[in-house]
Amino acid sequence: MTKAFSAQAVVLPPGPATTARAVALLRAGQPIGLPTETVYGLAANACDDRAVARIFEMKGRPSFNPLIIHVADRATAEALVEMPVAARRLADLFWPGPLTLVLKRRAGCPVSLLASAGLDTLAVRMPAHPAARELLAAFGGPLAAPSANRSGRVSPTTAHHVAGELPVALVVDGGPCAVGLESTIVGFDGATPVLLRPGAVTEDDIEAATGVGPRPFDEGGPVSAPGQLASHYAPAAPVRLDAAEVRPGEALLAFGPPLPGARATLNLSPSGDLGEAAANLFAMLRALDRPDVAGIAVMPVPETGLGRAINARLRRAAAPREAPP
Ligand code: TXA
Ligand code: MG
Repeated sequence: MTKAFSAQAVVLPPGPATTARAVALLRAGQPIGLPTETVYGLAANACDDRAVARIFEMKGRPSFNPLIIHVADRATAEALVEMPVAARRLADLFWPGPLTLVLKRRAGCPVSLLASAGLDTLAVRMPAHPAARELLAAFGGPLAAPSANRSGRVSPTTAHHVAGELPVALVVDGGPCAVGLESTIVGFDGATPVLLRPGAVTEDDIEAATGVGPRPFDEGGPVSAPGQLASHYAPAAPVRLDAAEVRPGEALLAFGPPLPGARATLNLSPSGDLGEAAANLFAMLRALDRPDVAGIAVMPVPETGLGRAINARLRRAAAPREAPP
């Protein structure tokens, strides 16, 4: 049973009045819905244990799963974490943008230990969305922000996804997210980048920036990735991948020319454009997740470039669900 909260979400467009209201809530330890170019975040003061605890509580997130820390600028990031050369190169090229770097916390780093789940590393990102940048600058400190969905569910790409799912007081409406998939997460084993989550910054981008191809994440390896639980992004309806036909009662998530016979069809990209498909993915999974639908059949998406990040989400949306607690 979800805990009842008294707050009712207000959805407001960005601007000085919204920023002032958002900053007042953040200073009072309240989380808010924050637009970013990837997905909407549930943001709170990263240095306030109680505010961070509220994020975990609202999301129903397991406390071993750490949060991403969002910063306004490079100087803030460098005050929190140690940045080796390879990390600097990546930050030079892709910040602000859809890239998160997992780096060693500096001694005296003021970010709540709860936010990093007790790890000696911190995941740091500088978002590009102008409304996120404005809010971070006005707040004047780091914001912890996981995706603003209930834990295990589909990430939100509009303000109304957030308002409909989480009991936040305020969601800043920055429009539909341009990227639509969460940031690429890169950790480091010495100087070698390790890809913890694929995203819009691709393996080729990382190799071009650092001169080293990223190693895939390896369970039990030197870099931990507590968030990579098998089932995630899960609609209520079962998800079936690589569909070559539509079965009775199924809805279809198409890519390219659609298969016939579905109860409902949405098309990630009729022309087969991976960027368009990424931006549509989560909103379309949500829209097809209807009680009259027996399941969601998904047509194959090519495993190249951004397609790898899309398929990583789809595999987890289709993974066997964890038993309810
Ligand atoms: O695009 C994004 O990254 C969005 C927006 C809001 O910025 N945020 C997001 O947060 O996707 P979340 O909490 O849904 O995913 C964060 C991921 C989790 O898989 C978590 O385990 C991982 O980052 N993570 C956080 N800190 C980590 C750390 N110190 N080491 C390894 N993984 C970490
Ligand atoms: Mg998430």
